[in-house]
Amino acid sequence: SASEKGGWSSFMAKEISEQPDAVTNTLRGRIHDGQAVVPELEAFGDDVLAGIRRIVIVACGTAAYAGQTAKYAIEKWAKVPVDVELSHEFRYRDPVLDDHTLVISISQSGETMDTLMAVKYAREAGAKAISICNTQGATIPRESDAVIYTHAGPEVAVASTKGFTAQIAALYLFALHLARVRNTLSLEELAEQVAELQAIPEKLATTLLQGEAVHQLATWMTDTRAVLFLGRHVGFPIALEGALKLKELAYIHAEGFAAGELKHGPIALIEPGQPVFVVVPSPRGSAHLHPKVVSNIQEIRARGARIIAIAEQGDAAVLPFADSVFHIPLAAPLFEPLLAVVPLQMFAIELATAKGLDVDQPRNLAKSVTVE
Ligand code: G6P
Repeated sequence: SASEKGGWSSFMAKEISEQPDAVTNTLRGRIHDGQAVVPELEAFGDDVLAGIRRIVIVACGTAAYAGQTAKYAIEKWAKVPVDVELSHEFRYRDPVLDDHTLVISISQSGETMDTLMAVKYAREAGAKAISICNTQGATIPRESDAVIYTHAGPEVAVASTKGFTAQIAALYLFALHLARVRNTLSLEELAEQVAELQAIPEKLATTLLQGEAVHQLATWMTDTRAVLFLGRHVGFPIALEGALKLKELAYIHAEGFAAGELKHGPIALIEPGQPVFVVVPSPRGSAHLHPKVVSNIQEIRARGARIIAIAEQGDAAVLPFADSVFHIPLAAPLFEPLLAVVPLQMFAIELATAKGLDVDQPRNLAKSVTVE
């Protein structure tokens, strides 16, 4: 009903707007004296966490992109190799697992059958399992050794939004806790990252203010038949998520690519008028990657692509080449995904709405898929 939507046109619009709170609530009680201290991880004991040799993240859909994003942070901070696998692929290919492997499942609902089966399989093979889940008492957390709940609040819209940002926040807390226990960063370095995480809710609120610009763009693009998304480093999973959102909601053929892969194939798709969203790394924080992505933009612009850039506030280098720009506040590189995803979520909802589609209940999809 309208009152349940709190005045918003859809649950999805409401849930997008709730992301600052979703992250704040996920951080609550898990930061002490400027350090990530996740009480739920005490189930393992520091010696077990210190002895982990490999992490495998299993998830489906949007949750898998949260996992792909977190891989960069876990490897950088805690120096543990991370593989991210779709749950249904993981289980059926004889994965190599042992009791020094930690399997992290990510599931908003905690009921996705493919992910549940992956967790059961991993535990039978001797691996430890942590669940990142948004639903108290769901099946996957019950089948896991420990659970870090995201506290995004109930997510009703089929397409996940606040669930995603809360998942990344929870995974970053995990990564910072692990890095502390494993001594892979100094307490000072850890505190800097924790402070970045704590600054995210306010930056999310700022990012959400661009609704009108996103709305304008969507109304111009209602006849678009295909959209490409490019990203690099942590921007890559965000490109994939942006494409998924458009498929799910606007029924448009959308593909995400790693920007560096452009010249190895996708550039052949560029023809005049082709819209391409580009998640641009920070010119300060990612000084080595920023020029590479700007040169990707120039290459496709020269072939007639219409560029919609998601760029850091004050990034002047992209302006001459972009047809539209959505700005995100300054953040350290690993934290940019939490912000860059927001305009993409908003664009998907706006385009679907402009096309007259039901954004909360897209055709053929279910909120949680409880069959294999
Ligand atoms: C379904 C939903 C997606 C979601 C995926 C994983 O396919 O339509 O939006 O990302 O399931 O759901 P989970 O509850 O496991 O995060």
